[in-house]
Amino acid sequence: MAQKIIIDTDPGQDDAVAILLALASPEIEVLGVVAVAGNVPLALTEVNARKIVELAGRTDVPVFAGCDRPLARPLVTAEHVHGKTGLDGIDLPAPGLPLQAQHGVEFIIEALRREAAGSVTLVPIGPLTNIAEAFRRAPDIIGRVKRIVLMGGAYFEVGNITPAAEFNIYVDPEAASEVFASGVPIVMMPLDVTHRALTSRDWVEAMRALPGRCGPAVASWTDFFERYDREKYGSSGAPLHDPCTIAWLIRPELFQGREINVEIETEGRFTTGMTVADWWRVSGRAPNALFIRDLDRDGMFALLTERLARLP
Ligand code: BDR
Ligand code: CA
Repeated sequence: MAQKIIIDTDPGQDDAVAILLALASPEIEVLGVVAVAGNVPLALTEVNARKIVELAGRTDVPVFAGCDRPLARPLVTAEHVHGKTGLDGIDLPAPGLPLQAQHGVEFIIEALRREAAGSVTLVPIGPLTNIAEAFRRAPDIIGRVKRIVLMGGAYFEVGNITPAAEFNIYVDPEAASEVFASGVPIVMMPLDVTHRALTSRDWVEAMRALPGRCGPAVASWTDFFERYDREKYGSSGAPLHDPCTIAWLIRPELFQGREINVEIETEGRFTTGMTVADWWRVSGRAPNALFIRDLDRDGMFALLTERLARLP
């Protein structure tokens, strides 16, 4: 039976590839896509989410708008990485798919109450605002979540938006702190692993050569995204951060990590948003996350190729 998931996202080129991978995979049933403010403001992320779902030809999947700002801080965005639309690379038409009227947080609450307890996985690939807000408003749903598979954090790789913090956690550290303390089983994809999920030129060109419209869109997004990382890290290839979450759901054996304690710094002078990961288990604090540190890169890209080729 397909795994039921809700994708919580701030697209974002790599978010877009994650959404396409999920929509192309029969092992996964996407109950809904919820937008959050992150890479760009909510008014753009919700439009981008609808464009992506429509591109995949999956207008049966509802798209919601969630929170437009972090729980306790002003929004920090990342146009310098993702472009002014958040999804620069290819011009997609304005979506015909309407935005759902229901607030995204209410959708998350309602879906978790409606579906069997322990059957729904949350996949946050942006700041954790919507998830924390849903847990605040409806604590009864916390015990009903199967698990959370998220992209966020960094430890050995250190930060990308500050020297200490990864973007998704930095934007809303209070939300992240509440989610990591919730008791829900967490699988986290930090920069330590996502910086190994780098596109190759051959893979991008194979995407561009796919006969449908999705492959060339993926190629244009990763080309746009690569430019930033090439200048910053000197690496060639774009890191497919967010698709690691969906790939783990489909093929967990491609990834390696450890069950450890991870705490979120919310008060640091220089370290706000840092994920303090007890990899060496020296704190005595109980594990609360499966911290993924390595992957079979070729296996993940083979999976992406095979699945994205199924899309229109
Ligand atoms: C994360 O931040 C965003 O810019 C990406 O989409 C990813 O979710 C990487 O730090
Ligand atoms: Ca993202």
